[in-house]
Amino acid sequence: MGTMKILGIETSCDETACAIVEDGHTVLSNAIASQIDLHAKTGGVVPEVAAREHVLNILPIIDEALFDANCTWDDIDAIALTRGPGLVSSLIIGTQTASVISYVKNKPIVPVQHIVGHLYSNWLDRDEDIEFPALVLTVSGGHNDLILMKGHMDFEVLGETLDDAAGEAFDKVARMLGLGYPGGPAISKLAVSGDAGAFDLPRPYLNNDNLDFSFSGLKTAVLDTIKKWGGMDDKFRADMSASFQEAVCDVLSTKLLRALEKTNVKEVHLAGGVSANTRLREVISAKLPDSVTFRHPKSLIYCTDNAAMIACAGHYLFAPNPSHFGVENIIPSTEFRISY
Ligand code: KG4
Ligand code: ZN
Repeated sequence: MGTMKILGIETSCDETACAIVEDGHTVLSNAIASQIDLHAKTGGVVPEVAAREHVLNILPIIDEALFDANCTWDDIDAIALTRGPGLVSSLIIGTQTASVISYVKNKPIVPVQHIVGHLYSNWLDRDEDIEFPALVLTVSGGHNDLILMKGHMDFEVLGETLDDAAGEAFDKVARMLGLGYPGGPAISKLAVSGDAGAFDLPRPYLNNDNLDFSFSGLKTAVLDTIKKWGGMDDKFRADMSASFQEAVCDVLSTKLLRALEKTNVKEVHLAGGVSANTRLREVISAKLPDSVTFRHPKSLIYCTDNAAMIACAGHYLFAPNPSHFGVENIIPSTEFRISY
């Protein structure tokens, strides 16, 4: 059996990324041009600025991924590509670049839904078998879902966010506290020196029987507390960071445990940008029974947006059915629904 190499391209938001993944788990290269410094100046992603950066970075990043993996285009079996959801102006740079390469190099192209990419981040650098069904909590800036993976590319959405995703709440609260962008890493760093019991923040959307999430009320509660407090000092910022982080971890882990009770699976995975959060990992593993295997992405760069997860998901779409994919012009999709 020969090996299969998939080149992945991801440009859904503010990272221009290209990676090569072998046999659905071995990461041969993972190149990424981050725009964090640029967007830190504006306190968030400005879509037109992000799109310009993608144009500048995409070809060098693809070359870097091939170089790092010691590959040429002849070694690549297929191109996996984030088709959406995301910022259309960012997505289009990836879809058009990949489509042109697909024509010129005669490579099949495999469109991947971005959230499905996050679901596959737990396969990266793991060559052991992962058993199905697996329950996945995926938490990012743009999405927040509880998903039952019954097999490869076989998903059931058990719950999703009704308004803000947890990552977005981290970013907005960080902005209220004057901590800059992106908010998650800044809040989790400050939270270490804060008192998580200092502020009694709500645990929204736990008093019901569904597995959906809502974080906008928590965000408003933080804003109200800040307004009432008047002048913030360092102690306030640290205590608020810790209290807010604790509320988010409490809600996410409680819903995850409820989903586990309903599904009774033996595999629980955490994915998405917020899976980088140490406290969230701690709270979840403390609540899970020993009989459950708990996985989060092996590396922090696999938590936030990256192309290795796209290549990995692309592998599990392409490998069982290569003739289904061909040279094609892919256009961006804003579809949030997870299905294949
Ligand atoms: O998955 P991702 O890179 O992009 C989306 O698909 O949205 O997630 C980005 C989100 C941001 O909201 C960022 O603040 C959050 O992940 N994040 C974190 C941490 N690192 C990144 N949130 C909490 N703690 C962290 N350590
Ligand atoms: Zn993402």
